[in-house]
Amino acid sequence: MDPDDSEQDPETKEQYASVYVGREEDIKRSERITAVVHDREVVIFYHKGEFHAMDIRCYHSGGPLHLGEIEEFDGRACIVCPWHKYKITLETGEGLYQSINPKDPSAKPMWCSKGIKQRIHTVTVDNGNIYVTLSNEPFKCDSDFYATGVFKVIPSSF
Ligand code: FES
Repeated sequence: MDPDDSEQDPETKEQYASVYVGREEDIKRSERITAVVHDREVVIFYHKGEFHAMDIRCYHSGGPLHLGEIEEFDGRACIVCPWHKYKITLETGEGLYQSINPKDPSAKPMWCSKGIKQRIHTVTVDNGNIYVTLSNEPFKCDSDFYATGVFKVIPSSF
């Protein structure tokens, strides 16, 4: 669905309008912020010169991703959930895991993807201001469960 589609009903259009979340220089300095974008809690990271936004609660059990560490796995920057250490790529929201071939116990573990598990949102920089546009990709993402209903409100530590 195209958020700019004039056929969309006004409520849907409003839900996918970009929202100002902060000043570029402030987010670069703090390297992360939390924000509520149209009633959805997101975390915005600044990592190695790029901004990334995703649902704030981990797809696994709702862990607070804004309190996790960013580490590289297989050359991909990931947020590591502070609760059970799941690794989620900043770029795509994929869950990464390591696997070995059970028929070859000497094999080196390989990094594999579970597919997209955490919903990623679009960050736009305009004249020193940062905006987030919610994803309207029409698939059921695991993190959607924690982005709605009774799970969605968690206190920010920033
Ligand atoms: Fe994030 Fe379990 S809640 S890894």
